[in-house]
Amino acid sequence: MDINLIQTQIEGDLAKIDSLSELEEVRAKYLGRKGLLAELTGAIAGLPVEQRGAFGKQVNALKNQTLDLFIKKEKELTAGNTVVKKSNLDIGMPGIAQELGVLHPITRVTEEVCAIFRKMGFSILGGPEIETEYNNFTGLNIPLEHPSREAFDTFYLKDYSKMLLRSHTSPAQVRLMKDKKPPLAIVVPGRVYRPDAVDASHSFMFHQIEGFMVDENIKLSDLKGLLETFAKAVFGNDIKMRFRPHFFPFTEPSAEVDISCIICKGKGCSVCGRKGWLEILGSGMIHPNVFKHVGIDAKKYTGFAFGMGVERIAMLKYGINDIRLFFENDLRFLRQF
Ligand code: DAH
Repeated sequence: MDINLIQTQIEGDLAKIDSLSELEEVRAKYLGRKGLLAELTGAIAGLPVEQRGAFGKQVNALKNQTLDLFIKKEKELTAGNTVVKKSNLDIGMPGIAQELGVLHPITRVTEEVCAIFRKMGFSILGGPEIETEYNNFTGLNIPLEHPSREAFDTFYLKDYSKMLLRSHTSPAQVRLMKDKKPPLAIVVPGRVYRPDAVDASHSFMFHQIEGFMVDENIKLSDLKGLLETFAKAVFGNDIKMRFRPHFFPFTEPSAEVDISCIICKGKGCSVCGRKGWLEILGSGMIHPNVFKHVGIDAKKYTGFAFGMGVERIAMLKYGINDIRLFFENDLRFLRQF
Protein backbone atom coordinates (compact mmCIF):
# COMPACT_ATOMS: atom_id res chain seq x y z
CA MET A 1 0.00 0.00 0.00
CA ASP A 2 1.36 3.41 -0.95
CA ILE A 3 1.56 5.49 2.18
CA ASN A 4 2.10 8.73 0.26
CA LEU A 5 -1.00 8.13 -1.80
CA ILE A 6 -3.02 7.66 1.38
CA GLN A 7 -1.75 10.94 2.77
CA THR A 8 -2.72 12.81 -0.41
CA GLN A 9 -6.14 11.20 -0.23
CA ILE A 10 -6.63 12.33 3.40
CA GLU A 11 -5.57 15.88 2.55
CA GLY A 12 -8.00 15.90 -0.39
CA ASP A 13 -10.88 14.68 1.80
CA LEU A 14 -10.19 17.32 4.46
CA ALA A 15 -10.02 20.12 1.91
CA LYS A 16 -13.55 19.36 0.72
CA ILE A 17 -15.33 19.58 4.05
CA ASP A 18 -16.70 22.71 5.72
CA SER A 19 -18.52 21.50 8.80
CA LEU A 20 -17.69 19.74 12.03
CA SER A 21 -20.10 16.87 11.30
CA GLU A 22 -18.34 16.16 8.01
CA LEU A 23 -15.03 16.30 9.85
CA GLU A 24 -16.27 13.56 12.22
CA GLU A 25 -17.20 11.36 9.25
CA VAL A 26 -13.76 11.72 7.71
CA ARG A 27 -12.14 11.17 11.12
CA ALA A 28 -13.99 7.85 11.48
CA LYS A 29 -12.93 6.86 7.98
CA TYR A 30 -9.21 7.24 8.74
CA LEU A 31 -8.69 7.36 12.49
CA GLY A 32 -11.66 5.36 13.73
CA ARG A 33 -11.41 1.92 15.34
CA LYS A 34 -12.13 0.34 11.97
CA GLY A 35 -10.52 3.15 9.97
CA LEU A 36 -7.79 2.94 7.40
CA LEU A 37 -4.96 3.65 9.80
CA ALA A 38 -6.12 0.95 12.20
CA GLU A 39 -6.20 -1.40 9.21
CA LEU A 40 -2.63 -0.47 8.25
CA THR A 41 -1.43 -0.98 11.81
CA GLY A 42 -3.09 -4.41 11.82
CA ALA A 43 -1.35 -5.29 8.56
CA ILE A 44 2.11 -4.88 10.10
CA ALA A 45 1.90 -8.23 11.89
CA GLY A 46 1.25 -10.03 8.59
CA LEU A 47 4.43 -8.74 6.94
CA PRO A 48 7.74 -10.57 6.73
CA VAL A 49 9.79 -9.76 9.80
CA GLU A 50 12.42 -7.72 7.91
CA GLN A 51 9.77 -5.39 6.43
CA ARG A 52 7.83 -4.79 9.65
CA GLY A 53 10.17 -2.16 11.13
CA ALA A 54 10.28 0.14 8.12
CA PHE A 55 6.57 -0.18 7.36
CA GLY A 56 5.67 0.31 11.01
CA LYS A 57 7.64 3.56 11.06
CA GLN A 58 5.88 4.79 7.91
CA VAL A 59 2.46 4.00 9.36
CA ASN A 60 3.35 5.75 12.59
CA ALA A 61 4.54 8.86 10.78
CA LEU A 62 1.36 8.88 8.70
CA LYS A 63 -0.74 8.59 11.87
CA ASN A 64 1.00 11.56 13.49
CA GLN A 65 0.68 13.67 10.36
CA THR A 66 -2.99 12.75 10.04
CA LEU A 67 -3.66 13.67 13.68
CA ASP A 68 -2.02 17.05 13.06
CA LEU A 69 -4.10 17.60 9.93
CA PHE A 70 -7.33 16.89 11.81
CA ILE A 71 -6.41 19.22 14.65
CA LYS A 72 -5.61 21.96 12.14
CA LYS A 73 -8.86 21.46 10.27
CA GLU A 74 -10.91 21.45 13.45
CA LYS A 75 -9.31 24.72 14.51
CA GLU A 76 -10.12 26.22 11.15
CA LEU A 77 -13.75 25.20 11.42
CA THR A 78 -14.29 26.39 14.98
CA ALA A 79 -12.31 29.63 14.50
CA GLY A 80 -15.26 31.06 12.69
CA ASN A 81 -14.80 31.30 8.98
CA THR A 82 -16.92 28.41 7.83
CA VAL A 83 -19.32 28.36 10.78
CA VAL A 84 -19.78 32.10 10.57
CA LYS A 85 -20.58 31.93 6.89
CA LYS A 86 -23.33 29.46 7.68
CA SER A 87 -24.92 31.58 10.46
CA ASN A 88 -25.11 34.75 8.33
CA LEU A 89 -23.19 36.71 10.95
CA ASP A 90 -21.11 39.41 9.31
CA ILE A 91 -18.25 40.09 11.69
CA GLY A 92 -16.96 42.77 9.33
CA MET A 93 -20.13 44.85 9.65
CA PRO A 94 -19.60 48.24 11.41
CA GLY A 95 -20.95 48.29 14.98
CA ILE A 96 -23.54 50.63 16.48
CA ALA A 97 -21.60 53.54 17.94
CA GLN A 98 -22.37 54.49 21.54
CA GLU A 99 -22.52 58.27 21.59
CA LEU A 100 -20.92 60.04 24.51
CA GLY A 101 -23.22 62.53 26.24
CA VAL A 102 -22.41 65.85 27.85
CA LEU A 103 -23.67 67.42 31.07
CA HIS A 104 -26.81 69.53 30.68
CA PRO A 105 -25.93 73.25 30.97
CA ILE A 106 -28.19 73.51 34.05
CA THR A 107 -26.28 70.66 35.70
CA ARG A 108 -22.97 72.26 34.75
CA VAL A 109 -23.85 75.66 36.16
CA THR A 110 -25.36 74.12 39.32
CA GLU A 111 -22.19 72.13 39.90
CA GLU A 112 -19.97 75.11 39.19
CA VAL A 113 -21.86 77.37 41.61
CA CYS A 114 -21.95 74.70 44.33
CA ALA A 115 -18.21 74.09 43.91
CA ILE A 116 -17.48 77.79 44.47
CA PHE A 117 -19.44 77.80 47.74
CA ARG A 118 -18.05 74.44 48.81
CA LYS A 119 -14.55 75.92 48.54
CA MET A 120 -15.66 78.71 50.88
CA GLY A 121 -16.78 76.19 53.49
CA PHE A 122 -20.45 75.67 52.64
CA SER A 123 -22.19 72.29 52.79
CA ILE A 124 -24.38 71.33 49.81
CA LEU A 125 -27.71 69.91 50.96
CA GLY A 126 -31.15 69.25 49.49
CA GLY A 127 -34.81 69.69 50.27
CA PRO A 128 -38.04 68.16 48.96
CA GLU A 129 -39.90 69.57 45.94
CA ILE A 130 -43.22 68.86 47.65
CA GLU A 131 -43.34 71.20 50.63
CA THR A 132 -45.71 72.28 53.33
CA GLU A 133 -47.43 75.64 53.00
CA TYR A 134 -45.80 76.45 56.31
CA ASN A 135 -42.21 75.94 55.12
CA ASN A 136 -42.79 77.62 51.76
CA PHE A 137 -44.55 80.71 53.18
CA THR A 138 -45.41 81.05 56.86
CA GLY A 139 -42.02 80.00 58.23
CA LEU A 140 -40.44 82.52 55.86
CA ASN A 141 -42.52 85.38 57.22
CA ILE A 142 -44.64 85.54 54.05
CA PRO A 143 -48.07 86.66 55.32
CA LEU A 144 -51.32 84.94 54.36
CA GLU A 145 -52.38 87.94 52.28
CA HIS A 146 -49.21 87.90 50.16
CA PRO A 147 -50.11 87.54 46.45
CA SER A 148 -47.71 84.62 45.91
CA ARG A 149 -49.88 82.54 48.26
CA GLU A 150 -52.86 82.79 45.90
CA ALA A 151 -54.08 79.58 44.31
CA PHE A 152 -53.05 80.74 40.84
CA ASP A 153 -49.53 81.68 41.88
CA THR A 154 -48.49 78.37 43.41
CA PHE A 155 -49.12 74.73 42.52
CA TYR A 156 -51.09 73.41 45.48
CA LEU A 157 -51.64 69.71 45.81
CA LYS A 158 -55.23 68.41 45.93
CA ASP A 159 -57.93 70.93 46.89
CA TYR A 160 -55.56 73.51 48.42
CA SER A 161 -54.38 71.19 51.14
CA LYS A 162 -51.37 72.22 53.14
CA MET A 163 -48.99 70.70 50.58
CA LEU A 164 -47.61 72.38 47.47
CA LEU A 165 -44.80 72.29 44.91
CA ARG A 166 -42.22 74.64 46.38
CA SER A 167 -42.17 77.97 44.57
CA HIS A 168 -38.60 78.69 45.66
CA THR A 169 -35.73 76.92 47.43
CA SER A 170 -36.03 79.17 50.50
CA PRO A 171 -38.20 76.64 52.46
CA ALA A 172 -34.99 74.59 52.74
CA GLN A 173 -33.81 77.37 55.10
CA VAL A 174 -36.74 76.66 57.42
CA ARG A 175 -36.18 72.90 57.38
CA LEU A 176 -32.43 73.07 57.90
CA MET A 177 -32.43 75.82 60.51
CA LYS A 178 -35.00 73.84 62.52
CA ASP A 179 -32.96 70.71 62.16
CA LYS A 180 -29.43 72.00 62.85
CA LYS A 181 -27.71 74.28 65.26
CA PRO A 182 -25.57 77.29 64.23
CA PRO A 183 -22.94 77.83 62.97
CA LEU A 184 -24.50 77.03 59.60
CA ALA A 185 -23.18 77.59 56.09
CA ILE A 186 -25.40 75.76 53.62
CA VAL A 187 -26.22 75.82 49.92
CA VAL A 188 -29.31 74.09 48.52
CA PRO A 189 -29.77 73.60 44.76
CA GLY A 190 -33.04 72.28 43.35
CA ARG A 191 -36.14 72.54 41.17
CA VAL A 192 -38.94 75.00 41.87
CA TYR A 193 -42.40 75.39 40.34
CA ARG A 194 -44.66 78.29 39.46
CA PRO A 195 -47.81 78.33 37.33
CA ASP A 196 -46.39 80.89 34.90
CA ALA A 197 -47.24 80.91 31.21
CA VAL A 198 -44.21 79.59 29.34
CA ASP A 199 -42.36 82.15 27.23
CA ALA A 200 -38.75 83.13 26.46
CA SER A 201 -38.07 84.04 30.08
CA HIS A 202 -40.62 81.94 32.04
CA SER A 203 -40.99 78.25 32.69
CA PHE A 204 -43.40 76.47 35.05
CA MET A 205 -40.38 74.62 36.40
CA PHE A 206 -36.91 76.03 36.85
CA HIS A 207 -33.92 75.74 39.16
CA GLN A 208 -32.71 77.81 42.06
CA ILE A 209 -29.78 77.75 44.42
CA GLU A 210 -30.40 78.91 47.96
CA GLY A 211 -27.62 79.79 50.35
CA PHE A 212 -27.48 80.96 53.94
CA MET A 213 -25.11 81.42 56.83
CA VAL A 214 -26.00 81.72 60.50
CA ASP A 215 -23.63 82.37 63.38
CA GLU A 216 -22.84 84.95 66.02
CA ASN A 217 -21.78 88.23 64.44
CA ILE A 218 -22.63 87.62 60.80
CA LYS A 219 -22.83 90.99 59.08
CA LEU A 220 -24.14 92.43 55.82
CA SER A 221 -20.52 93.04 54.80
CA ASP A 222 -19.87 89.28 55.09
CA LEU A 223 -22.71 88.70 52.63
CA LYS A 224 -21.40 91.34 50.26
CA GLY A 225 -17.85 89.99 50.31
CA LEU A 226 -19.02 86.43 49.78
CA LEU A 227 -21.29 87.33 46.87
CA GLU A 228 -18.64 89.43 45.20
CA THR A 229 -16.20 86.52 45.37
CA PHE A 230 -18.90 84.29 43.95
CA ALA A 231 -19.86 86.66 41.12
CA LYS A 232 -16.24 87.13 40.07
CA ALA A 233 -15.64 83.36 40.09
CA VAL A 234 -18.58 82.85 37.72
CA PHE A 235 -18.44 85.95 35.51
CA GLY A 236 -14.80 87.02 35.67
CA ASN A 237 -12.66 89.28 37.81
CA ASP A 238 -13.38 92.45 35.85
CA ILE A 239 -17.09 92.65 36.71
CA LYS A 240 -18.46 95.10 39.25
CA MET A 241 -21.17 94.14 41.73
CA ARG A 242 -23.73 96.28 43.52
CA PHE A 243 -26.47 95.85 46.12
CA ARG A 244 -29.79 97.45 45.13
CA PRO A 245 -32.28 97.84 48.01
CA HIS A 246 -35.30 95.59 47.62
CA PHE A 247 -37.97 93.89 49.68
CA PHE A 248 -38.24 90.21 50.64
CA PRO A 249 -40.40 89.19 53.61
CA PHE A 250 -37.76 86.75 54.91
CA THR A 251 -34.81 89.16 54.97
CA GLU A 252 -34.30 92.61 56.48
CA PRO A 253 -32.58 94.54 55.05
CA SER A 254 -32.93 92.95 51.60
CA ALA A 255 -31.10 93.64 48.40
CA GLU A 256 -31.11 92.53 44.83
CA VAL A 257 -27.61 91.94 43.55
CA ASP A 258 -26.54 93.23 40.14
CA ILE A 259 -23.35 92.73 38.20
CA SER A 260 -22.07 95.13 35.56
CA CYS A 261 -23.33 93.94 32.16
CA ILE A 262 -21.00 91.27 30.83
CA ILE A 263 -21.84 92.19 27.24
CA CYS A 264 -21.39 95.99 27.23
CA LYS A 265 -19.25 96.21 30.39
CA GLY A 266 -21.70 98.68 31.91
CA LYS A 267 -22.14 101.05 28.98
CA GLY A 268 -25.72 99.98 28.28
CA CYS A 269 -26.92 97.55 25.61
CA SER A 270 -30.00 95.51 24.66
CA VAL A 271 -29.10 92.63 27.00
CA CYS A 272 -29.07 94.88 30.10
CA GLY A 273 -31.90 97.09 28.83
CA ARG A 274 -29.51 100.09 28.52
CA LYS A 275 -29.00 100.00 32.29
CA GLY A 276 -25.47 98.67 32.31
CA TRP A 277 -26.41 96.26 35.15
CA LEU A 278 -27.79 92.71 35.24
CA GLU A 279 -29.71 91.34 38.21
CA ILE A 280 -28.31 87.97 39.31
CA LEU A 281 -29.88 87.17 42.68
CA GLY A 282 -31.83 88.22 45.77
CA SER A 283 -30.37 88.40 49.24
CA GLY A 284 -30.48 89.94 52.68
CA MET A 285 -30.07 89.49 56.42
CA ILE A 286 -32.35 86.76 57.77
CA HIS A 287 -35.48 88.31 59.32
CA PRO A 288 -35.84 87.85 63.11
CA ASN A 289 -39.35 86.44 62.49
CA VAL A 290 -37.79 83.58 60.49
CA PHE A 291 -35.42 82.85 63.37
CA LYS A 292 -38.43 82.83 65.69
CA HIS A 293 -40.22 80.25 63.50
CA VAL A 294 -37.23 77.91 63.48
CA GLY A 295 -36.30 78.38 67.13
CA ILE A 296 -33.01 80.23 66.73
CA ASP A 297 -32.27 82.98 69.24
CA ALA A 298 -32.20 86.19 67.20
CA LYS A 299 -30.49 88.04 70.05
CA LYS A 300 -27.52 85.72 69.89
CA TYR A 301 -27.37 84.86 66.19
CA THR A 302 -27.54 86.74 62.92
CA GLY A 303 -27.35 85.43 59.40
CA PHE A 304 -27.72 86.14 55.75
CA ALA A 305 -29.48 84.36 52.91
CA PHE A 306 -29.48 84.55 49.14
CA GLY A 307 -31.24 82.85 46.28
CA MET A 308 -30.51 82.73 42.57
CA GLY A 309 -32.07 81.28 39.44
CA VAL A 310 -29.79 78.78 37.74
CA GLU A 311 -31.35 79.30 34.30
CA ARG A 312 -30.76 83.03 34.61
CA ILE A 313 -27.09 82.55 35.54
CA ALA A 314 -26.65 80.05 32.68
CA MET A 315 -28.38 82.37 30.19
CA LEU A 316 -26.12 85.27 31.13
CA LYS A 317 -22.99 83.16 31.22
CA TYR A 318 -23.55 81.47 27.86
CA GLY A 319 -25.52 84.19 26.09
CA ILE A 320 -28.73 82.13 25.79
CA ASN A 321 -31.83 84.21 25.02
CA ASP A 322 -34.67 81.72 25.51
CA ILE A 323 -35.25 79.65 28.66
CA ARG A 324 -37.27 77.07 26.69
CA LEU A 325 -34.06 75.88 25.01
CA PHE A 326 -33.03 74.21 28.28
CA PHE A 327 -36.05 71.95 28.30
CA GLU A 328 -36.65 71.08 24.65
CA ASN A 329 -34.02 68.35 24.65
CA ASP A 330 -32.60 69.46 21.32
CA LEU A 331 -29.17 67.83 21.21
CA ARG A 332 -27.86 70.43 18.74
CA PHE A 333 -28.34 72.99 21.52
CA LEU A 334 -27.30 70.84 24.48
CA ARG A 335 -24.09 69.60 22.87
CA GLN A 336 -22.65 73.12 22.77
CA PHE A 337 -21.84 73.16 26.48
N1 DAH B 1 -36.77 83.11 47.32
C1 DAH B 1 -36.56 84.28 46.48
C2 DAH B 1 -37.29 84.09 45.16
O1 DAH B 1 -37.60 82.99 44.80
C3 DAH B 1 -35.11 84.50 46.24
C4 DAH B 1 -34.41 84.93 47.46
C5 DAH B 1 -34.32 86.29 47.79
C6 DAH B 1 -33.85 84.01 48.34
C7 DAH B 1 -33.68 86.71 48.92
C8 DAH B 1 -33.21 84.42 49.50
C9 DAH B 1 -33.13 85.79 49.76
O2 DAH B 1 -32.67 83.58 50.36
O3 DAH B 1 -32.49 86.20 50.91
O4 DAH B 1 -37.50 85.04 44.47
